[in-house]
Amino acid sequence: MTVDVEPTVTSAKVSGSGAAGGAGAASDVAWHHRHLIDLDVVTWPEIELIMDITDQMKGILARPIRKVPALNGRRVTTLFYEASTRTRVSFEAAARNLSADVVSVSTATSSVTKGESLVDTVRTLEALGAEILVMRHSVSGAPYLAAEVFGGHVLNGGDGWHAHPTQALLDLYTMRQHLPGGDLRGRKVVIVGDILHSRVARSNIWSLTAAGADLWLCGPSTLLRGFDRWAAAWDGGAIPGHGRFQVTSDVEAALRDADVVMALRIQRERMQGGLLPSLREYAARFGINAERISLAKPEAIVMHPGPMNEGVEIAPDVAVSGRAVITEQVANGVAVRMALLYLLAGAHEAAHVGEVVR
Ligand code: NCD
Repeated sequence: MTVDVEPTVTSAKVSGSGAAGGAGAASDVAWHHRHLIDLDVVTWPEIELIMDITDQMKGILARPIRKVPALNGRRVTTLFYEASTRTRVSFEAAARNLSADVVSVSTATSSVTKGESLVDTVRTLEALGAEILVMRHSVSGAPYLAAEVFGGHVLNGGDGWHAHPTQALLDLYTMRQHLPGGDLRGRKVVIVGDILHSRVARSNIWSLTAAGADLWLCGPSTLLRGFDRWAAAWDGGAIPGHGRFQVTSDVEAALRDADVVMALRIQRERMQGGLLPSLREYAARFGINAERISLAKPEAIVMHPGPMNEGVEIAPDVAVSGRAVITEQVANGVAVRMALLYLLAGAHEAAHVGEVVR
């Protein structure tokens, strides 16, 4: 499929067919999601479709002029109720690279400060022409409420502790770039940090278990609460198409022979207090430093979704070492978001499809 000229935005030839990360015969995959709020409803072949289109978007980003007319005249609105640097800029860059018209609403200067509800705000933005709404909200589930009242497409840029699907997809894309054959099956992927408050970890569980990775979640037991039950419920292949994962507070066991190490921020703004003795103690017991990372495979990569608290969850020298792929994650985020805007823009009504890419 050629992204910028072909009007076939809703399907593509991709490899893989269903079972956790399994390679199979090339198959036609149709994109039928109107919204993207989490990856729990996205199948492995659909994830491969996103990865395939992201490859093509990377090709566009490598050109001297990084702009194609795919979403010409389409209106993308970003509505962020929570702080963001990379996610918001990345979505806006992605939309502009596809020639969409971009409106960004800052809740600090909008009528939200006058008490307007989410539902009223979403209805107002639709009346003002929004077709794709990229939103971030501190309340888990807020994008589902928005999707109920919005006539276009909702793309989740992070909601509370619940989900951050585009982050998980850019993480997966970056891992595939670094692992032989782009294959995660059996590869040890370790996510270390504040799992409890992390929407990034929750979305990564869906994509990485679909990819067939040997996924480990690691942190102090207070920041893993509930994940042990989730892992136990999935043990034995309870969820079709998804492998199992495990949780541990033994950071050395988690890091040993890892292929991928992802550090997560300690999210103080989401903590009620009392979950951690101190950041210094966290850094000493769980921080990803040079000594700990030497337990991983020599070729292991180090990831972080950002923003980083250097010296807490990750040592400054590890963050800038040759293993770190943190800036690649940021750059890949633009291509992944271009792919998703592209797919969603074509998904709403068949009548739109022809318009989208001409
Ligand atoms: C994350 C987020 O906001 O969920 N950052 C991001 O989007 N890259 C992680 C975090 O806040 O720690």
